[in-house]
Amino acid sequence: MQSAEITALPVVARWQPIHQPLLLQRQVELWVYQLNTAIPQLSGNKWLKLKYHIAQAQQAQKAGFLTFGGAFSNHLAAVAAMCRYHGLKSLAYVRADQLDNHNPTLAFCLQQGMQIQLLSREQYRLRNDAGFLQQLQQQHQHFLIVPEGGSSVAGASGVAELELDLTPNGKASHIICAAASGGTLAGIINGAGCKVLGIAVVKDPSLPARISQLLHSSNNQQNWSLNTDFCGAGYARFDDSVLQFCREMAQQQLYLEPIYTGKALAGVFALIKQGYFPPGSRLSFFHTGGLQGLAGLHYRKLITNADFALLSGLAAD
Ligand SMILES: Cc1ncc(COP(=O)(O)O)c(C=O)c1O
Repeated sequence: MQSAEITALPVVARWQPIHQPLLLQRQVELWVYQLNTAIPQLSGNKWLKLKYHIAQAQQAQKAGFLTFGGAFSNHLAAVAAMCRYHGLKSLAYVRADQLDNHNPTLAFCLQQGMQIQLLSREQYRLRNDAGFLQQLQQQHQHFLIVPEGGSSVAGASGVAELELDLTPNGKASHIICAAASGGTLAGIINGAGCKVLGIAVVKDPSLPARISQLLHSSNNQQNWSLNTDFCGAGYARFDDSVLQFCREMAQQQLYLEPIYTGKALAGVFALIKQGYFPPGSRLSFFHTGGLQGLAGLHYRKLITNADFALLSGLAAD
């Protein structure tokens, strides 16, 4: 078995102020917090959600991670890169009927050495089932099972270390992020000293309970909320208004994709318009990464060449 150590990957943190007439009108300040690494698949929330899983694997002398994801999942790309970086193996159970080697996410995962097993949609529903997980653990005893999205106590602990309320202009009134499997939001709530708002990008009635399970104490349960008004037609579906919003933000050198960060930040703007945030609010939005997903949207022709270049920042001068 190879040994693994959490090697600090150089991470560059950046606060980006957003300027829009609406913000001035409503007297709301908006900052975007970005966390970039030399391995783009680990930027945003990814390194944080996986680093204590590395520690767990190391302690338990595991050979690698076993995890779950969709065929274009940011989490799978992150696990593949994280395990490769630490000399660990990675094995993914992927929701797909066949393996498409041209899918850019899976091509990346394979290139990082990830082993891929396919699960039908029906089988994939068992990914959190205790019996199924026990069976997998018996089959793959030398692997640490990391839940979908890296949303576990370990995943939330990494995110809790961020100081997202400390903007360059002073303390934030609200910290905001996209929520899907819930670990990122739970970590922020555990670490925050201000109100926290999650914008759900999935239609999942179990999400609030899944977040609550990862929270430290009942104290901070008062301090957060989950908005479910902006997931539109559901996970990974987006309408042209979200895409148009991503284009507008790209003109300000803020690069978003429409499944997570674009959908959530567009929701924040809608809330600002509705007067949800009192005048004088200072918002801190966590950019959770996920730009690798743009290649998959482009591959499926869900975005044009021009949008792919613009939203990835490749069209910038
Ligand atoms: C880019 C991006 N943003 C936000 C999220 C949501 O994070 P979580 O699944 O912890 O709710 C994900 C999923 O992990 C993601 O890939």
